[in-house]
Amino acid sequence: AANLPASAIRLPLDMFQPERQNSRGVDLSDENTLKALGLTLRIPAAFGAQTGEAITNPANRQDTVGFIQATSVEDVKNVIRKAQDGFEVWKNMPVAERAACLEKAASHLEDDMPRLMGLIMREAGKTLANAVSEIREAVDFLRYYAAQIRREFADNKAVPLGLVVCISPWNFPLAIFLGQVSASLAAGNSVLAKPAEETPLIAGEAIQCLHKAGVPEEVVQLVLGGGDIGGALVADPRVTGVLFTGSTEVAKLIEKQLSQRLNPNGSPVPLIAETGGQNALVVDSSALSEQVVADVLSSAFDSAGQRCSALRVLCLQDDSADRVLTMLKGAMEELRTGDPSLPETDVGPVISSEAQAGILRHIEDMRARGFRIHQSPLEAECENGTFVAPTLIEIDSLAVLQREVFGPVLHVVRYQRDELPQVMKNIHDTGYALTFGIHSRIDRTIEDLKAASDAGNIYINRNLVGAVVGVQPFGGHGLSGTGPKAGGPLYLRRLLAHRPEIKAFSRRD
Ligand code: SER
Repeated sequence: AANLPASAIRLPLDMFQPERQNSRGVDLSDENTLKALGLTLRIPAAFGAQTGEAITNPANRQDTVGFIQATSVEDVKNVIRKAQDGFEVWKNMPVAERAACLEKAASHLEDDMPRLMGLIMREAGKTLANAVSEIREAVDFLRYYAAQIRREFADNKAVPLGLVVCISPWNFPLAIFLGQVSASLAAGNSVLAKPAEETPLIAGEAIQCLHKAGVPEEVVQLVLGGGDIGGALVADPRVTGVLFTGSTEVAKLIEKQLSQRLNPNGSPVPLIAETGGQNALVVDSSALSEQVVADVLSSAFDSAGQRCSALRVLCLQDDSADRVLTMLKGAMEELRTGDPSLPETDVGPVISSEAQAGILRHIEDMRARGFRIHQSPLEAECENGTFVAPTLIEIDSLAVLQREVFGPVLHVVRYQRDELPQVMKNIHDTGYALTFGIHSRIDRTIEDLKAASDAGNIYINRNLVGAVVGVQPFGGHGLSGTGPKAGGPLYLRRLLAHRPEIKAFSRRD
């Protein structure tokens, strides 16, 4: 099915859960709401244990957020043994009870929102608005997969894989972490969850929340550490499935490792990998410049560009490029980059000094090659943390970019109208296929570009970020990942040893 065009894959409409509601929002333009959040955001000096490895705030390196004790490679054997016991307990729990645990965890997260927002902002450097969406997405994942098993696995006949390892990134330390974990649990697996080294505290809170909601301790365990610990988990033959979100390089290593063994039922060990993108937005001269500018700002600089969905390459039709660029540069002057806990801040820090150094190296390299660069201003408080000014680089061809730059850096290329097929070929030739955007008011152009793109998520006349669970299943192909899409109707099936048939197609399809 991998080569079928998306339009050829038909799913029963009710798989999209029309009855389910997404999480409630927070009105950050309301002064009283902000005041209430401000009070509760004064959180304890440190989270978790008081000794061990210090986790610091990327916006202010003097601020220690908490301490952690990493798991040792020897301990990995013990947690795996415990997780095997956990599997026996969990797989026999009726589906409705599993779903209830996940739903309870979702409600706990919502009730604890201000405190969790504080931790997300301090540990991951997220802005207020991003911290809200982070929690909402986690809540949505929990409820979405719970609703799916209530609907589809109610006969208790689906057979889970066994023991699943979840390796998650720092850029969505709660949402992607809990997205992976809740899907694995929903399907009936026991879970070993290894968060990124940069964001272990919020992951710890998530695991505690699941335990409080009734998921037994041996069913979902937190494993802390770096690549050696991740490697030890993936290499263990008792592990029957791996979910990974992170770099394409690491995904390839995991794939290679897993290809050397089979699961007890004789099938390959499944890997769901979600990796990077070299995401492009094509803007033709019919597009509404004001809307283009707003959507480019959020796509390229929201979350300091640290989203796999973020816009990396803006392709402007030459006829209107000057107008769009002038407006875009003007708007960049107005972006506030600084302390993410201030409501007026648009762009927070990047995650670490290594990340900062890598992004700055790229900018300097581009400058040395003679490409024109425009940068937003930085606030004075940026001295305290690892910030990068939102940056626009005018390049002459997509081929200049050898890799994804995971930060607030937007590349711009110009094209002539008759060069569109070549533009699409260049985008395709990057090998990535995650998000793609089109801004145009000509239906024919939109249809042609849509047909020429193999990106997992295509956005038309809007921004490229913030896919909503259950509404916009998220994931790519090629160098961008394996599929199935997270928050979509097919994800849980990859986490079963025997995949049930998709029920009869409805007439409407
Ligand atoms: N799901 C996220 C988004 O759509 C990806 O990083 O922005």
